[in-house]
Amino acid sequence: MRKLLVAFILAAAAVALMGGAAQAGNYWDGWKPGKAKGPMPPCNVNVIALGGDDILQATVDTYCGIKPGSYVSYINPAAWDVYAKKGSKYPDGQTGVLVFKDIDAVFTTDHKGGQPVYDAKKISTGQSIASKDAGHPLNPQTCAKCHATFNGVCKGFVCGNRIN
Ligand code: HEC
Repeated sequence: MRKLLVAFILAAAAVALMGGAAQAGNYWDGWKPGKAKGPMPPCNVNVIALGGDDILQATVDTYCGIKPGSYVSYINPAAWDVYAKKGSKYPDGQTGVLVFKDIDAVFTTDHKGGQPVYDAKKISTGQSIASKDAGHPLNPQTCAKCHATFNGVCKGFVCGNRIN
């Protein structure tokens, strides 16, 4: 009986551990940190005066309103060579993510047929929080407009490796 009880407790602990791990698991776990990271300053901050560039200012102006806290990026190892060389031809698949932990949100860039695919999701559930409203900060077209057309500073629709 005692043995049975111990076995039962061990099994329950294993299930709890595995459950915890599954919950904490994100597809970018184990990916390499990208260069894009930092605090998202409040809306009145001029980041150009602090050494930032035009696209960073535009990004702050677009997202400061949702007070996203700080952000970090991760790049898929399968895309790392292109990222490191600032290349423009990313392989199809998941490319990179921008994680806003404080607000449980992640921006995702994938490539399909050489073209970028953008989404915004809740980290905890994986559910998309993308908007269909024109001009909305979370509309994938807003992502595309900045990542694809900002004076060509982002190569292959990836922006974090544009400097250094
Ligand atoms: C106004 C410009 C702008 C908009 C709009 C924008 N981004 Fe970005 N994005 C950037 C910049 C600039 C960086 C790099 C930040 C840095 O250097 O710290 C970045 C970084 C990223 C990264 C990390 C990989 C990389 O490219 O370095 C992902 C993923 C990403 N953005 C996805 C999105 C998604 C998805 C949206 C829409 C929901 C979006 N972005 C909207 C400018 C923008």
